[in-house]
Amino acid sequence: MKNAFVTGSSRGIGHGIALALADKGFNVAVNGLSESDAMADTCTAIEAKGVRAVKVPGDVSNPENHAALLDRAEDLLGGPLCALVNNAGVGPLRKADILETEADSWDHVMEKNAKAVFFLTQTFANRLLARERSADLPWTITNITSVSAFASSIDKAEYCVSKAAAGMVTKAFAQRLAPEGIQVFDIQPGIIETDLSRPVLETYGKMIEDHGITLVPRFGQPDEVGKAAAAAANGEMPYCVGQAIRPDGGLTLQRL
Ligand SMILES: NC(=O)c1ccc[n+]([C@@H]2O[C@H](COP(=O)([O-])OP(=O)(O)OC[C@H]3O[C@@H](n4cnc5c(N)ncnc54)[C@H](OP(=O)(O)O)[C@@H]3O)[C@@H](O)[C@H]2O)c1
Repeated sequence: MKNAFVTGSSRGIGHGIALALADKGFNVAVNGLSESDAMADTCTAIEAKGVRAVKVPGDVSNPENHAALLDRAEDLLGGPLCALVNNAGVGPLRKADILETEADSWDHVMEKNAKAVFFLTQTFANRLLARERSADLPWTITNITSVSAFASSIDKAEYCVSKAAAGMVTKAFAQRLAPEGIQVFDIQPGIIETDLSRPVLETYGKMIEDHGITLVPRFGQPDEVGKAAAAAANGEMPYCVGQAIRPDGGLTLQRL
């Protein structure tokens, strides 16, 4: 039985990942900050694919919640989790030039995008290491960072820093866990059409249209990130360690 926990899967990219995992036969624990119509809809869509979906709402930015969230997912699914996808994330509290960035926005993104990923990964990894693990299942941790993990933006620098930090979470845990047969991946999406990106889509849409900033001339969709993340989470890249995969339509391909 393949069971996955996907943080922030009530909507957006996490929704796309949850459905892509369902296509690969995973039962999915669906998480969001709180229970919502979107979470119920995601669960219905997963179950329509013939696997199980359970609701596990809760704030992943507080490490004190982590063990209880994983316990609840396993109780409701009736078996151990083999895959964790750290997808939940937030943008900065406000767009501001790096010379004006304020500490509250720094704390906001670092707490949700970096600290939460580090400690949920740690809690999940320790549980796996304490158990017998069948060689028939994929044992994976997949972190959704961003092209912002390496491409700087001066009007949301604290977000970029938080995503770069999450990128290093991937590498450090990949180093620690590869000898144990647990793979850790970093998925770095480009501009994906979701509630999070909605406020900047008009600007980015013009840049795509007028300046060809993406080689695939459109925004990405959550299901396209989902397919990349689900391949990683399903262990379809068996000799890869700590790799970053970039569903970005060519946004970051270096060109002349
Ligand atoms: N959209 C893009 O263009 C883009 C590009 C690169 C990377 N990303 C990254 O991809 C991830 C998903 O982004 P998205 O665009 O899908 O965002 P979104 O549409 O805003 O959805 C965010 C999801 O995360 C959940 N969430 C937020 N804070 C949480 C918390 N503290 N605990 C638990 N769940 C929480 C939300 O739950 P509720 O429904 O309960 O609010 C929702 O399910 C983020 O890490 C983001 O940084 C996005």
